[in-house]
Formats: sequence, structure tokens, C-alpha cells
Amino acid sequence: MPITLPPLTRRRFIASSLSTAGSALLGQRLLATSPDEDTAAIDPDRIALLADTHIDGDPKRFVYGTKWPGSPVKEDEHEGVNMADCLDRVVRDILAMDPLPAHAIVNGDCARTSGTEKEYEEFLRLIKPLRDAGITVHVTIGNHDNRKQLWQAVPDLKTVESGRHVGVLQLPKAEVILLDSERGTMGADQLSWLREQLSDGERRYVPMLVFVHYNPYPRSEVRPMKGLNGTEGEALLGLLEEERRAKALFFGHTHDWAVEERMGVHMINQLPVSYYFGKGQPHGWLDMQLTDTDASLQVRCVDPKHHQHGKSHALRWR
Ligand SMILES: [Fe+2]
Repeated sequence: MPITLPPLTRRRFIASSLSTAGSALLGQRLLATSPDEDTAAIDPDRIALLADTHIDGDPKRFVYGTKWPGSPVKEDEHEGVNMADCLDRVVRDILAMDPLPAHAIVNGDCARTSGTEKEYEEFLRLIKPLRDAGITVHVTIGNHDNRKQLWQAVPDLKTVESGRHVGVLQLPKAEVILLDSERGTMGADQLSWLREQLSDGERRYVPMLVFVHYNPYPRSEVRPMKGLNGTEGEALLGLLEEERRAKALFFGHTHDWAVEERMGVHMINQLPVSYYFGKGQPHGWLDMQLTDTDASLQVRCVDPKHHQHGKSHALRWR
């Protein structure tokens, strides 16, 4: 389910305006301009994409991501990270952008274990600077999350739409759909709901970008991950292929990084903010810039010396 954390302050939006019909759905708090309060610029077409932050209740917690059953990495050659430190660095990197992105989407697995109170307390503490800067944060629930616990941590922000807790963000240049793939399943109702969204004639020319935590098809490049229940994964891909306004699917879960294309739809396997499963793999976030006809993704690694840092990928809409 998507959980939206509005900004804690208001900032001035750049670009023409956000008076387009769709953007009005974002809410007054986000759209308000308040030059007296703060004049830092926010770009409504720039979105920070994060996944798999895996914040622990203990900010000192360190995890060796390359240690998993069957890992080819030798015992004394494992690599790991401090997760709180990774998110803190990513947040600081996002805040160094000029203009700032209007939104940040955390595509599941905010927590390290099962979404405990302490884990969300830490997660919220770490992302607070984004909200303080006027950035709206959206969160989907991954397999390590617990939506009830998160609602408890932020009770005013509980939003439920449909039985499966899905959400739609109307942005100036695209529509973002946030899906629920808790425990690797989506459910028939959610797939029907997605079909309705995709086939809505009034929005047929609006590019749609879909976010789901689980990988929709098996990936085995680094650590084998089955992902979504096979039938549902195929059904999801089938829907996206069918409806031309579906342009890209973003997912996490694999802690890997890949940009692929399947049947005209861009498949973005988001790199994790935190630990990675393959030695030397990148971790960090994606800086996405939307236009009317495409999107560009720039890889921002926690380690700015990583060879993937700064690499750009152009996603042309079909
Ligand atoms: Fe994860």
C-alpha cells in the first residue's frame, strides 16, 4: 500500500505551474507556494526513487548483504553496510540537488526485519530532512514492512484505497501507480483495479508509471529471486503490455540494478539504498526527470567512486 508523508514545510515550485487538472490531486499542502517561508525551488517533474532502505531499530546495525545461502563470496571477502548511514547519505545527496525533486518514492522494504515500531521511528527520523525541505515522500509496503505499525507511527497519514491499498499520484507529466505486493502476491481485485486505471479512456494519453516492490518475473543475475507469484507476475506484465499508456514498471526486492525492456515496457529493477547481494554491486538511488515523451534516470551511488555513479539511462515512451 502507498503511504504518503507530506512535506513538513512548503517551498516554491519552479516551472510553469502546477495548475494542470491532474496535479490538483496532490493536495493543497504540497502545492502551496510560500515565498516568504522559503524560496528554495522544487521541480515537480523531478522524482527521487529509493527502494530497500532496510532501516533497523539500532542505527549502528551493520549487515553483510553478500552473505546469503549459496553466495559465491568467500567467507573473508563479504561486503556489508550500515543501513542508517546509507539512507542518511542518500537523503543528503537528494537535498544537494538543485532544484529539489518534488517527490521521493520508497518502493518497499523500509524496515530491516518485520516493520517494528523502533524501525519506523528510525526510518521517519532519517527521512525527516526530505519532508523538512518540502519533498513529499511516498512509501509502498514490502515484505519486511508492517503497514499497521507504520500507520501507528504516522496515524494522520493512514490512507486506504480499495481492499489492497493502492494509490495514484497525478503528476504534471505522468501518472504514478503504487501497488501492494505484500508477501509476493497482488490478488485478483488489485489486478482488476489496475486494469480499470489503465483502460480509463479519459486518461488514455497520460503516461503511466507503475511501482511495485516485488519483481514481476524471476531474476537470477546475482541472487535468484522468484518474485511475484508466477501467474500474477505474468498477468501484471500482460496488462502493461496491452495498454499502451503503461510506460514503465519499477520494482525493488532483488537488491540488484537493471534496466530492461519487455514488450515495449521499461522494466526498472531499482538498486537498493542499503545492502546489495552481489560483491561490488551499486547501491543508492535514482534521480528521475520526466518530460512529456520520456524519462531520464541518473544513478546516484552511495559511493560516488562507484563506476555506475552518474550513469544516465533514457527511457523513451512507446
Ligand atoms: Fe529488500
